[in-house]
Parts: sequence; structure tokens; C-alpha cells
Amino acid sequence: MKILITGAKGLVGRALVEHCSASGDEVFKYDHHALDIADARAVESEINAQRPDAVINCAAWTDVDGCETNPEKAEQVNSLGPENLARASSNVNAVLITISTDYVFDGEKEGFYTQRDQPRPISVYGRFKLEGERRAQAAHARTIVVRTGYIFGPGGKNFLSNVVSKAQRGEKLKAIRDYWGTPTYGHDLAIRLRELAIVDLPGIYHVVSSGDGASFETFSVEALRLAGLSSDLLEVIDGDSLGRPAPRPRNSRMKCLLSEKIGLQPLPHWQDGLAHFINHG
Ligand SMILES: NC(=O)c1ccc[n+]([C@@H]2O[C@H](COP(=O)([O-])OP(=O)(O)OC[C@H]3O[C@@H](n4cnc5c(N)ncnc54)[C@H](OP(=O)(O)O)[C@@H]3O)[C@@H](O)[C@H]2O)c1
Repeated sequence: MKILITGAKGLVGRALVEHCSASGDEVFKYDHHALDIADARAVESEINAQRPDAVINCAAWTDVDGCETNPEKAEQVNSLGPENLARASSNVNAVLITISTDYVFDGEKEGFYTQRDQPRPISVYGRFKLEGERRAQAAHARTIVVRTGYIFGPGGKNFLSNVVSKAQRGEKLKAIRDYWGTPTYGHDLAIRLRELAIVDLPGIYHVVSSGDGASFETFSVEALRLAGLSSDLLEVIDGDSLGRPAPRPRNSRMKCLLSEKIGLQPLPHWQDGLAHFINHG
């Protein structure tokens, strides 16, 4: 397959480039510097030049608090970006996968969010990610939206990806106890993204690692246990005590109604992904 990957130096982008290359695909990888997804002309020109079978969009402005204070940039990247990619993918009849987020939900539900639940974003980031889903779907029928959340893996800048390395450096870890999601290993997500490109069935998929979910605290405790490190460095806090600009959903655990129906196996458990991440980097 010829696969064009945007955001190739991000957490998911790296894992996907590695997996597709190892699978024998012809990979056209673009980091932010090489292709700005907010630049419609550049997006069209690159996709026309490469004529890929699949475009997988791993690019996004993922700074949730930054989006809250700079909605114009959030809209350009997270809403218009996917639309630009969808238009250009439509021109060459490539399947488009664009990654979205659990933050399209408000977090008020008790259980797991499925595709039957109505999105109701409570942050600017969530609002424009949802708009990005819808713009991409409206511009190109062969669009697959993959909602995921609480991702961890090599190269990640987020809290979950850095629990062990911070503890190894003796840094204190402020672990939030009252916000819950479904931790998802970037490597396993990458495998599923490629499978979905091959399956080529448009729609919205919730792709997360298996398990009942975790709070930042339960994830951190497990990470330190697997790494053989003491949990003395953990300071357990309430999320609201951080006074962050953007509200987050308290519960954004997700499940997929579609994947198993089309013959895809559940992803491995997040604890297995975490053990793999800790042991293999
Ligand atoms: N990490 C999570 O827990 C999480 C949860 C739910 C959903 N997601 C979604 O998963 C996807 C992948 O996220 P990630 O975790 O891999 O995030 P990441 O590590 O922040 O990677 C995103 C990449 O996109 C690049 N980028 C930013 N603006 C761009 C633009 N205008 N054009 C092209 N590239 C741009 C960034 O480059 P620079 O850093 O150089 O700007 C970065 O390399 C995103 O759609 C995100 O919304 C992530």
C-alpha cells in the first residue's frame, strides 16, 4: 500500500511510520515542518504528487490548554486541517483516516462512550476536533474517523508517556485520581489504523486498548509497579486543583460498537501495552 502519514514525528505518527514501514508499505511521511495540514494548497499539492492509496492524519494541535486560549489556531489545525486532507484525498480517491478524541464527550456518562452517544465537547480542543470529524466526513465519503484517548508510547510528550522516565530521574509525579479514560498503547493503535485503512469501511471507530480504563493515578501506580520503582514519588491530586484553563471530561472511557462486528479483534489490554512499552521503549 502507498500510505501518506501526516504528523509523522508525533507519538502516534512515529509508531505508525514504524509499523507501516515494517509491513512493507511505501510510506510518505510528513512532519509538521514538511507539511502544515492547515495549508490547503500544500496539502493538495503533496497528495496529488504522491497519489497514495491511504492518507492517515496523525497531525493535530494537541495542547488542550493552548487551544482554549487560542481558538483560531485550534480551528485552523484541528478542524480545517482534516477538511483539507479530506478534499485532497477525495481528488485522488484515497481512503482518509483522521484521528479524533475522547474529548468530544462531556464526561457525564457513568459507563463507556460508544458511537451511539451524542458528542458534547466542553473544551475548545474537543469542539474543533469534533468539527474536524464532521468537516472531513462531509468533504469525502471515504473518511474513517478514529476516536481514541489516553495514549502512551515512545516519544510522547504527555503525562502517561513520561511517568516512568520522570520517576527514574527522581521527579515528583502529580497523578490525578478523579479523571478516567481508556489508556491506549500507541503501537497497538498504529496496527489498528493500518488494518482500518485496508478494511476501508467509512464510519466512526472508537479505538482504545482493552480493559476497564484507568485514572492517571491507577495508570501511574501500575507503571511504577511494572518498572520496579517505588510509588513514593506519586502525589495523588484532584484534577481541578491544577486550575488548568481547559475543562476535561471526568469520564471519557470508550468502547467500539463496530470493530468486532467487522471481524477485528479487541486491542491487547493496556497493562500488556504498558509492560511492552516499559520493557522495549
Ligand atoms: N495523546 C493523547 O492522549 C490523545 C488522546 C486523544 C486523541 N489524540 C489524537 O491523536 C492524534 C495523534 O496525537 P499524538 O498523541 O500523536 O500527539 P502529538 O505527539 O502532539 O503529535 C501531533 C503531531 O502533529 C504535529 N502538528 C501540529 N500542528 C500541525 C500542523 N498544523 N500540521 C502538521 N502537523 C502538525 C505536531 O508537530 P509539532 O509538535 O512540531 O507542532 C506533532 O508532531 C491527534 O489527532 C490527537 O488529537 C491524542
